[in-house]
Amino acid sequence: MKIKTFLAIAIFLTAITSCSDKLQNADYQIIPLPKEINVDVEKSFVLTPDVFISYPSSQPSLKKEASFLAYYINDILGYRLKIKETDKVLEGAINLSVDISVNENHEAYQIIVSQNDIKITGSDASGVFYGIQTLRKSLPVTAKGEKVRLQCATIKDYPRFGYRGMHLDVSRHFFPIDSVKVYLDIMSLHNVNRFHFHLTDDQGWRMEIKKYPKLTEIGSQRNGTLIGHTEEYDYIPYGGFYTQEELRDLVKYAKDRHIIIIPEIDLPGHQLAALTSYPELGCTGGPYEVWQRWGVAEDVICAGNEQAMKFLEDVLIEVMDVFPSEYIHIGGDECPKVRWEKCQKCQAKIKELGIRGDDTHTAETYLQSYVTKRIEQFVENHGRHIIGWDEILEGELAPNATVMSWRGSEGGKQAVLQHHNVIMTPNTHLYFDYHQSPDTEKEPVAIGGYNPVIKVYSYDPIPEGISEDETNYILGPQANLWTEYIGDFNTLTYMLLPRLAALSEIQWCLPEQKEYHDFVRRAFHLADIYDIYKWNYAKHIFDIDIKMVPNINEKCIDLSMSKYGDGDIYYSIDGSDPAENGIKYEVPVKITDNCAFKAVVIRKTGVGRLHSTTFDFSKSSMKPVILKTQPEKAYTYEGAQVFIDGLRGSGNYKTGRWLGFWGKSIDAVIDLQNEEEISKATFNCNITKGDWIYNAKSVKVLVSNNGTDFTEVFSQDYPILNSMYDDGIYPVEVTFEPVKTRFVEVVIEPFDLPEGHSGYGYPAWIFVDEIAIY
Ligand code: ACM
Ligand code: ZN
Repeated sequence: MKIKTFLAIAIFLTAITSCSDKLQNADYQIIPLPKEINVDVEKSFVLTPDVFISYPSSQPSLKKEASFLAYYINDILGYRLKIKETDKVLEGAINLSVDISVNENHEAYQIIVSQNDIKITGSDASGVFYGIQTLRKSLPVTAKGEKVRLQCATIKDYPRFGYRGMHLDVSRHFFPIDSVKVYLDIMSLHNVNRFHFHLTDDQGWRMEIKKYPKLTEIGSQRNGTLIGHTEEYDYIPYGGFYTQEELRDLVKYAKDRHIIIIPEIDLPGHQLAALTSYPELGCTGGPYEVWQRWGVAEDVICAGNEQAMKFLEDVLIEVMDVFPSEYIHIGGDECPKVRWEKCQKCQAKIKELGIRGDDTHTAETYLQSYVTKRIEQFVENHGRHIIGWDEILEGELAPNATVMSWRGSEGGKQAVLQHHNVIMTPNTHLYFDYHQSPDTEKEPVAIGGYNPVIKVYSYDPIPEGISEDETNYILGPQANLWTEYIGDFNTLTYMLLPRLAALSEIQWCLPEQKEYHDFVRRAFHLADIYDIYKWNYAKHIFDIDIKMVPNINEKCIDLSMSKYGDGDIYYSIDGSDPAENGIKYEVPVKITDNCAFKAVVIRKTGVGRLHSTTFDFSKSSMKPVILKTQPEKAYTYEGAQVFIDGLRGSGNYKTGRWLGFWGKSIDAVIDLQNEEEISKATFNCNITKGDWIYNAKSVKVLVSNNGTDFTEVFSQDYPILNSMYDDGIYPVEVTFEPVKTRFVEVVIEPFDLPEGHSGYGYPAWIFVDEIAIY
């Protein structure tokens, strides 16, 4: 019996040995890409379960970094290396150390892989930590239980920006402390070092404040939540908050990962949760209700009430006690002034301070500047500094404030020109609550917008028009994740990943290092690591990239496809399942007629996401078109051809399938190139009333055979689709007596915004996708 067992073990051991003879290689091409990687392909170090991780006895705090590395290696390779404190470099080990001479950048690191050992040396412990992240991300995920070959190499690396932020809104939806810890783990993998924690808003107060217990007893709870993009509520009580003990533990958890938590108490707007708890803090005295809907509430903190100012200061005292961060974010965004305009206390304060409105700002805007400056002084007196959203530029900027530019990059640029520090978080590129794919029907419900990975990746935080010296005022970029439409952690990480990977290259790499296709190639491996931790993520970038270009000469769409990684693309044009009986894609396809186009990538690991596009041709498809009025720059995309490419728009007006016009009619002349009989024109209007987009006020169709003298064949006015109508896509179809013509002119007139709309009196936008003529 004993002999048998011994034999069995011997055979088993042989099997393991022969299997691990086929060593898999580490790959240093990770995200974010290190500044310098020099590899000697001839030589290597072999990582085995017997390798030690060592740190010098003179630098005992590195024991923590050593533990992280041991955990990370175990997560990927399934074996836990032993840790050793030593007085000298240990042969055959991964040696961690700090040496300030590595680089003047305190987060810099260097990895030297030699045949004898691996040395990870950081300018400080954070540098060691980032070196560890790089080593971790280099390991092959398919080598579980196996030895790994690391080619000898020297890697030198440091970040471009010292501030590398990621934000999370826990007010609109609450995420328990353990989920926030995972969020911090995800940030660590991407070398992100600032966590902007949006703790309070109209929909819930999330931090225990001992002096004001009702903030969490009352202010952390709401009676229901708006359902998706409807006007209906779920009537399900919702709430949650963090105790100060939990938050102190979170601060330590973050610090261990070299992340500083920047708490935000948004003031004086976005304060309904506090007003509901203590109604005397508002201008009207209430009653108030923790908001169940999204948007900007008109009830804000009363700026003329000393008790309200004292409340804010008391709250900030406890916030500063829990969060040691140098910066405290005091919000400042979206603060309506309608209550202040009518409030005796606020008006008395304006008088007392001698505030006067002028051509640029109202007295109430200057009153907000007064609140911000007063709070700034308070925070500065406690040895900290404030950050505020870019609205704090309106009126007068508080002397030491750092500005967070969110309404595009312009606010950031203005602040830099005033020599204030800036954090760039523009909603044009770094809002991760926006959709990642134009195919919004297949996506989780989102706030709107369109911000795919490639757009995030394209962003450069240094705006044009500032001098070299002034670039130093830009501390760094940050992405924001607002959670109105994100109720669970799986959706949260789906919105975060892999956009966070793109953000990490903007934050860490130099612009000249960035190359999108190479980034996507490297993202495959990063996604393997997401899989190890079971973090849900969006997979669009690993799928097919489809380009569709109208070809006016050949009257077709030239459709080309590309993909990253292994596998082949299969497609069908008859609506059938391309994975079952599709055609293997080899050369660009010419789409000449109506069809339901579908495509998938088939890889060893399975079938990717299905892409489907319906082509809907008419007499105007692929015909020359001239726009007599021009769309707004931000909504021009491929220009006039959007109207004749046979492609209809989906629910989101920012996908490139719609052209957006403001303050003018759409006036398009289509050349059918031959005389044709026509009797119908169709198009869709995208209605998104909150974004000022309405339907057509009138439509005219004119025809001509010479392109200069036009005769009207159709004209009609339409009623405005006001708040009684849901947002969405509204088709317009106009018919007229059949007429033979070569040129067709379609004129689509927009409305002005109706009474009851916040922009009443201004022109409405109009968005149209395709002008089809039949
Ligand atoms: C913001 O998105 N309201 C800062
Ligand atoms: Zn007031």
